[in-house]
Amino acid sequence: MNLNLTYYHVASDVPENKTDIAVVIDVLRATTTIAWALKNGADSVEVFADLDLLREKALKWAPEKRVMLAERGGKKIDGFDLGNSPLTVTKKIVEGKRLFMSTTNGTKALQKVENSQFLFPMALTNRKSVADRIISLNKSNILILGSGWEGNYSLEDSLAAGALADYLIKSHNTKVNIVNDELNAALALWHFWKDDVLKCLKTATHGKRLASIGDYEDDFKCCSQIDCLDIVPTQVERGVIRAF
Ligand code: MLT
Repeated sequence: MNLNLTYYHVASDVPENKTDIAVVIDVLRATTTIAWALKNGADSVEVFADLDLLREKALKWAPEKRVMLAERGGKKIDGFDLGNSPLTVTKKIVEGKRLFMSTTNGTKALQKVENSQFLFPMALTNRKSVADRIISLNKSNILILGSGWEGNYSLEDSLAAGALADYLIKSHNTKVNIVNDELNAALALWHFWKDDVLKCLKTATHGKRLASIGDYEDDFKCCSQIDCLDIVPTQVERGVIRAF
């Protein structure tokens, strides 16, 4: 197998062409929250860029079968059940339910590549599981998309892109082509920070943003854990993600 790995920092840079596999990363915190919600038994997560559309769709569901999550600028939006913390999507709250979710960047990035043949949201927590699924699918073109911050580069998403590339290079016998320098740089970042991921997250601009608006210490710890979840969040219909 010949894996071509391309990495884009932000959704607006991604060409419209359909790719075999898209992996969307938002370490702080959307894809970490999605992975934990599914691990804790959520039936599915439906993602929205637009809050009005989210409300419209969610309100058609039975209240006891839905949870509405919305975050902007790192903060929960009033009137929604939850914000975007992986610590809040506990079994008690999410089990058996559909989560309707909108975040500043992560859910927009997911929408950008929703036409890919396979779409996997990935965090550091489920890097290995997603990488193993990519290998098992035996496809050539893999696009990795960092959610960034409102159109800008983000350190933590690049770190995770490098972590994914590193795993694929080391664990697969066939050739891995690193198609662009963004991913070469992400690999270098991973090699530099891999023994202190927590520090990397706190050094990142969005880490500093979160730290300036509240006590997010436990979120940082949760988001920095590598390979602790055996969950492969997978888009099963446009915008709807389930665990595999
Ligand atoms: C996002 O989508 O931009 C993030 O997940 C923001 C956050 O930390 O809540």
